[in-house]
Amino acid sequence: MALLLHPSRDEDRWLAAFQGELPEMDIYLWPDAPAPADVEFVVASRHDPVDLHRYPNLRAVLAMGAGIEQYMSPEMPDVPVMRLADPAMSDEMAAYVVHWVVHFQKRMEAYLANQSVSTWREEPYVTADEYPVGILGFGGIGERIGRALADLGFPINAWSRTGSDAGWATSFTGLSELHGFLEASTAVVNVLPHTTDTEGLLDSTRFDHFRPGSLLINLGRGATTNESDLLDALNDGRVGNAVLDVTEPEPMAGDNPLWAHPNVRITPHVAGFTLIRSASTLIAANIRRMLGGEEPYPVVDRSRGY
Ligand code: NAP
Ligand code: GLV
Repeated sequence: MALLLHPSRDEDRWLAAFQGELPEMDIYLWPDAPAPADVEFVVASRHDPVDLHRYPNLRAVLAMGAGIEQYMSPEMPDVPVMRLADPAMSDEMAAYVVHWVVHFQKRMEAYLANQSVSTWREEPYVTADEYPVGILGFGGIGERIGRALADLGFPINAWSRTGSDAGWATSFTGLSELHGFLEASTAVVNVLPHTTDTEGLLDSTRFDHFRPGSLLINLGRGATTNESDLLDALNDGRVGNAVLDVTEPEPMAGDNPLWAHPNVRITPHVAGFTLIRSASTLIAANIRRMLGGEEPYPVVDRSRGY
């Protein structure tokens, strides 16, 4: 019984964490696989789906991140894929969004500009209750972000495929309610997974329905947003400001005009990151569940793509 670990970095820390969590199991760091027939679990941030066919007794692939589009290839073996649903990561994502929403709601860009010319001037502002925030994708992370903002007094609009019953948010469901959702939101936070349905979702047609001058924060996946249409929308004011933590491709190309746009802030996919301690505990708990004949959680639904 063996587990193959394939992190994208910090190999030694991951190995030590899993050896502590699952002392009864043989744990190997890819590509140092033992006899392929021994491998029952692969824990990886990314792994070539074709390589997974080398392990005839593979029982599951456990992702080291929340986004699992890399495991949706038709070449994947027919084993369950578990994504990472880590409340500690959701907290990190919520802190990132609160930072930027408050930054723009409180006119911090104007104050930074004023300071650069030694100007003490109060700028017009809106209060949190006058600044509705719409969250595209109201799953584990989106709901945590919404809760953090709601606690600060921001009205929350939630857009998802099946709707939300969170009493403190206004629920919008599916494509038929997307434009109404955008029209009701002064800031739009995109935390959607990348699927065939969400790819290119935010395009010029959607930006037509943004409140003029609104804020877009994308921390889901870059492929959900048409960056060329976003640039046009920023230039003609349909979108006021954009904060991009994710782009397509990553890293963003050096000559992408969004880098130099005065109304764009870019961070290199750092809004939330996998925390080795909590992630290894959660992943190991899922492995123990499977070994004990219980259902692991959350299993990716391949027909939905998330
Ligand atoms: P999740 O719990 O699976 O939630 C996904 C949400 O998106 C759900 O509310 C789902 O609707 C909604 N959704 C999916 N497809 C949709 C569609 N076609 N139309 C409308 N709504 C749709 O995922 P999560 O854990 O919150 O993670 C979300 C994403 O965040 C990940 O996939 C990843 O791409 C990204 N992420 C980024 C970072 C970063 O550092 N920037 C870190 C972690 C994660 P239902 O509720 O109706 O199913
Ligand atoms: C990071 O982007 C993740 O999906 O965990």
